[in-house]
Amino acid sequence: MKASQFFVSTLKEAPADAEVASHRLMLRAGFIKRLSAGIYTYMPMGLRVIRRIENIVREEMNAAGAIELLMPVVQPAELWQESGRFQKYGPELMRVKDRHERDFIIQPTSEEVVTDIARQELRSYRALPKNFYHIQTKFRDERRPRFGVMRGREFTMKDAYSFDRDLDAAGLSYDRMFAAYVKIFERMGLVFRAVVADNGSIGGIRSHEFQVIAATGEDAIVYSPDSGYAANMELAEAVAPASPRTVATRALEKTPTPAASTCDDVAALLALPLQRTVKSLVLATDVAADGAPPKTTIWLLLVRGDHSLNEIKAGKLAGLDAGFRFATVAEIEAHFGCKPGYLGPIGTTLPVRVVADRTVAAMSDFVCGANAEGFHYTGVNWVRDLPEPMLVADIRNVVEGDASPDGHGTLLVQRGIEVGHVFLLGAHYSKAMDATYLDESGKPQLLQMGCYGIGITRILGAAVEQNHDARGMIWPEALAPFTIVVCPIGYDRSEAVKAAADALHDELIAAGVDVLLDDRGERPGAMFADWELIGVPHRIVLSDRGLKVGEIEYQGRRDEKASVLPHVEAMAFMKAKLAA
Ligand SMILES: Nc1ncnc2c1ncn2[C@@H]1O[C@H](COP(=O)(O)OP(=O)(O)O)[C@@H](O)[C@H]1O
Ligand SMILES: [Mg+2]
Repeated sequence: MKASQFFVSTLKEAPADAEVASHRLMLRAGFIKRLSAGIYTYMPMGLRVIRRIENIVREEMNAAGAIELLMPVVQPAELWQESGRFQKYGPELMRVKDRHERDFIIQPTSEEVVTDIARQELRSYRALPKNFYHIQTKFRDERRPRFGVMRGREFTMKDAYSFDRDLDAAGLSYDRMFAAYVKIFERMGLVFRAVVADNGSIGGIRSHEFQVIAATGEDAIVYSPDSGYAANMELAEAVAPASPRTVATRALEKTPTPAASTCDDVAALLALPLQRTVKSLVLATDVAADGAPPKTTIWLLLVRGDHSLNEIKAGKLAGLDAGFRFATVAEIEAHFGCKPGYLGPIGTTLPVRVVADRTVAAMSDFVCGANAEGFHYTGVNWVRDLPEPMLVADIRNVVEGDASPDGHGTLLVQRGIEVGHVFLLGAHYSKAMDATYLDESGKPQLLQMGCYGIGITRILGAAVEQNHDARGMIWPEALAPFTIVVCPIGYDRSEAVKAAADALHDELIAAGVDVLLDDRGERPGAMFADWELIGVPHRIVLSDRGLKVGEIEYQGRRDEKASVLPHVEAMAFMKAKLAA
């Protein structure tokens, strides 16, 4: 391919609203073009990477026995009403009407359509197992589209759906997809980790996310270097403290803490470790008993001062599992007789439900708000100063150094970008949509399902977050828009340079190498800067001066500087490089 026959369009500066490196670099390198919030055109250079990603995914899905089809982007609401998701799915679901005022949706995912296909087509146990997948445009009206293609509104996903006769068989389909995902991300040359993930609101059975490791990732993931344990922070268990509560050694005192309304401030003021303080978080639940106006309950959740509340865990507790919100200031003042900042479990004005994190339940001589502005209690001890909490539960995020829940080693935390998600669904959709097959004895049985997503376009961003430097992107060879760029200096002026560059280009093409010859006639500095920005892994430079002495230059995108090699060895050298 010659640059003059392709489309290369680079910018010196990225738009100011691009928050992360991958977004900035992709805009500057002409990979994507913004049309609207979270909606992008994939420009020719970016599309080449997307096609490479798709090819790897398609090859490995096919190899794992999945079968490709293509389901519609626009789907009738009826199916989504059958599954209950037309009502339940939040504003992320784009609902549209056609000219006859009939409801449709733009698919954020395709469980309903594929289950509808399965209930018509997979009528007998003999048809099972089956796994259908497609690579298709998705639309999710994300509340905060950001980071370019990483959290878009319109994006491309590979989604696969397995159908099995029972849960054991479905588990095998799940394992096969898991193994295919490992191969896919290995082939892409990405550093990733498969982590245990939250099963979500539909109560799936098993779920893993594939996370590309990157400092800017939206997800916190935890792992134990001493074992295979790895989980999303949302889910990772904070095990109960190994040592029990110690006996009280201090008297309860109401201590002035003027203007110290955070645990940090209080610890600093009292010259105590932050680990001796307890943080109060006030939640509310509104439960409607049929017809009557909703009854509000106020909850006080206690976590240690240096810990943070895990809302996913809290949302699984009995009473909070139907949904909760943070209490309003008015509700807080009514129940605690005090403004936020000095709240605690001792002496509330109205009853509240106290839930203590396991760590807090094991504390003694601790510090908490005194429900009086400018005061905290110090030397607080359970039983002596306040009743045992109504509920003790794991409600905090783990921190580095916590014991691994599998009993092996201590946890470390890193950040990741979720590029894939495998999910054992069971019969959730088949039950809602009455998708059954006939078993050997002719009895109808529910199809057992799994669903498996890969964020095709998100991978673009994730790969760049993981692989870039000050000069631009650094594509892993398997994903690069071009494998080699040939940069002739004076292509338009020197017959010798033109002839040598054309010949090398043709030979590389004949050898099946994805090469681009930059015949645009740019000056060397600008030309090199473009290809470093675009992140092509290999570059060869030809010049009159070099050719006169039989030499060319090679530089890998990660190399500090160029190396000189004999012109006659160019092909052999590149073949060896690419084989390595
Ligand atoms: N807004 C988005 N933009 C780009 N890719 C997305 C977006 N939402 C999800 N994906 C990709 O699709 C995959 C499957 O999505 P899924 O797990 O259903 O979404 P979520 O984790 O947001 O519930 C994710 O692992 C991710 O790679
Ligand atoms: Mg997910």
